[in-house]
Parts: sequence; structure tokens; C-alpha cells
Amino acid sequence: MASIWNPTLETHVAKIDEQHQELFRQADILVDPDKHGRITDMLKFLGEYVILHFRDEQNLQEKSKYPKYETHKKFHTEFLATFREMNRQYSATGDKEIVTAISNLVINWLRDHIMVHDKEFAEYYRKNT
Ligand SMILES: [Fe+2]
Repeated sequence: MASIWNPTLETHVAKIDEQHQELFRQADILVDPDKHGRITDMLKFLGEYVILHFRDEQNLQEKSKYPKYETHKKFHTEFLATFREMNRQYSATGDKEIVTAISNLVINWLRDHIMVHDKEFAEYYRKNT
């Protein structure tokens, strides 16, 4: 966890930062070998949390009339399509390597997305609310 989260990822919007940290935490424990018996539950929980987080972020964007709302929403939708497809593949095969790939997808996508798009929104949000 310490290796994944670092202060450069902060958007300084408390709710968003808390949810991002929780997403990293969940993606990280997916690959914890002690937890292998519960992978299906963990993936379900992670998927639901991702949706909750995107919805909360998009709600803040709508409320603050963020001009890039539609574009940002599209990034979320595209991520979810990839995430769902990989989950489908894991359900079909039970291949643990797909779980590692899902964990990496969440961590890498989120990190890149936060650094550019969430930070851009957070700056707008802090100035306009
Ligand atoms: Fe986002």
C-alpha cells in the first residue's frame, strides 16, 4: 500500500482522496496470497466501489458545472468496460493471472487518471465551489 499511494496523488478534495486510497487498498489486497479464497467476493466489492466512486465524482462535476464533465465521464465508462471484460474472463477461466492483471489495471489506470484528469477537475472544483 505504501508503495502505491503517495502524496503526489492527492487532489485535496477529501472525499475523492479517501475513495482513491480505498480503491488502491482493495486493488492491492487482491494479489495478497492469503486472500485467494475470497477473490470473487473481493472483485465484486471492488467493482461496486469503483462504480460508487465514479458516481460520486461525476455528481461533484455536475453540481459544479465542470465543463469537461462529458469527457471525464467517458474515461470512467471506458475503464468500466475493460474492468468488466477482465472480470468476465476471470469468471470464465478462474485464471489467477487475470486477477493480477485486474489489480495492475486498477492501480495503473487510477494513478494515470488521477494525475491528469482528477487533479484537473479537483483544481476547478476547489476554485468554483
Ligand atoms: Fe475520475
